Amino acid sequence: MPLFSLHPKEKTEELFGRENEIEELVRLVRARRWVAILGPRMVGKTSLVKATNKKLECMGIKAIYVNLWGTRGTQGLLNALAQGLNQERSVLQKIRDIAERIEGLSIGTGGISISLSRKPMTTMWELLAAIGKQAGDCAIELDEVQELSVISGHLLKLLANIFNTYPNIVFIFTGSMFGILKTLLEPKSTSPLYGRSPARLYLQPFTKEKATEFLRRGFQEYRHPVKETEVNEAVEKLDGIPGWLTLYGNNAAVRKMPHYRALEETIIEGTKIVKDELEHFLEGRDRTLYITTLKVTATSARWKEIKNAIEARKGSLVNDATIKNIIENLKAAMLINEHEGVYTVKDPMLKNLLLTSQIT
Ligand SMILES: Nc1ncnc2c1ncn2[C@@H]1O[C@H](COP(=O)(O)OP(=O)(O)OP(=O)(O)O)[C@@H](O)[C@H]1O
Ligand SMILES: [Mg+2]
Repeated sequence: MPLFSLHPKEKTEELFGRENEIEELVRLVRARRWVAILGPRMVGKTSLVKATNKKLECMGIKAIYVNLWGTRGTQGLLNALAQGLNQERSVLQKIRDIAERIEGLSIGTGGISISLSRKPMTTMWELLAAIGKQAGDCAIELDEVQELSVISGHLLKLLANIFNTYPNIVFIFTGSMFGILKTLLEPKSTSPLYGRSPARLYLQPFTKEKATEFLRRGFQEYRHPVKETEVNEAVEKLDGIPGWLTLYGNNAAVRKMPHYRALEETIIEGTKIVKDELEHFLEGRDRTLYITTLKVTATSARWKEIKNAIEARKGSLVNDATIKNIIENLKAAMLINEHEGVYTVKDPMLKNLLLTSQIT
């Protein structure tokens, strides 16, 4: 797969500049640590997980990749897990005998199918227990874990039980918005996961040098001539985020757009992607308060300025707890960053979205 391919990379050789992260992930999984992969959108989280899988498999660790995008509730999680298992036939084969006897699921030529179960949590426990008993060392990778935003106490308990009972199962959590991971990463003393929280692996955007090398190498693959000034401008504007660099490179080298159009198109497309994600995040939240906060932080703001902006928009006083809550949620979702009391929006696409009033 070329560097400028828009799909998540699936082999370690295809993943540019992440040798340390791959090694770290492998090390943690082999040590049977649970892992949370953290990082802004489009930084390459899914690619890291998928590319590492081949390496894990060489070491006898089966990887079950579970995409949670669009899933709802426990039933959704169960369906997604079944789908992940269906891609990993060797595990399916090993657990077949036990799995056939689990209420709420059946196994056919297409793999596992889930019937609308009355107790999806019980079915899930039994399925995971089958993996724990029969499948040997496994990494279960829950991607887009923010979709489980209504993570229930039952699910936390189930995870804790897996942790205690089946050390051969390792969970890897990742996704774009980490509201949910807070429950996993900073469990309260009353949480079933207390003392069992996963190790964190941070994926950073590329440095300027790395981003420049990435683009150069990608263009070389297509023998596509580029000017140094163009590469520099793209690196500057796209802030070292691999996904946006890839999109730009693809526009220029594959779709043959001239530099300025390729960059413009990347920003338009990236802004659209970020807008969809933001809309998803805003579902069920107080839209006005969140958008006002984001807009004022897009040019960077302190607490007081955020408060003033919100109160001006609302036309009334708003208490500190409400503001704290909004800021915490935005931070947890990695939409804003804080440094020494100053809040900013880092993502170039989100910044563009907010500053050009494409969202209200
Ligand atoms: N290190 C890398 N080397 C080569 N390509 C990369 C790298 N990191 C990311 N990409 C490319 O960038 C794009 C986004 O990557 P990926 O989907 O893995 O990111 P993500 O962090 O999971 O994104 P999202 O936040 O949308 O879930 C893909 O086209 C992928 O191929
Ligand atoms: Mg992803």
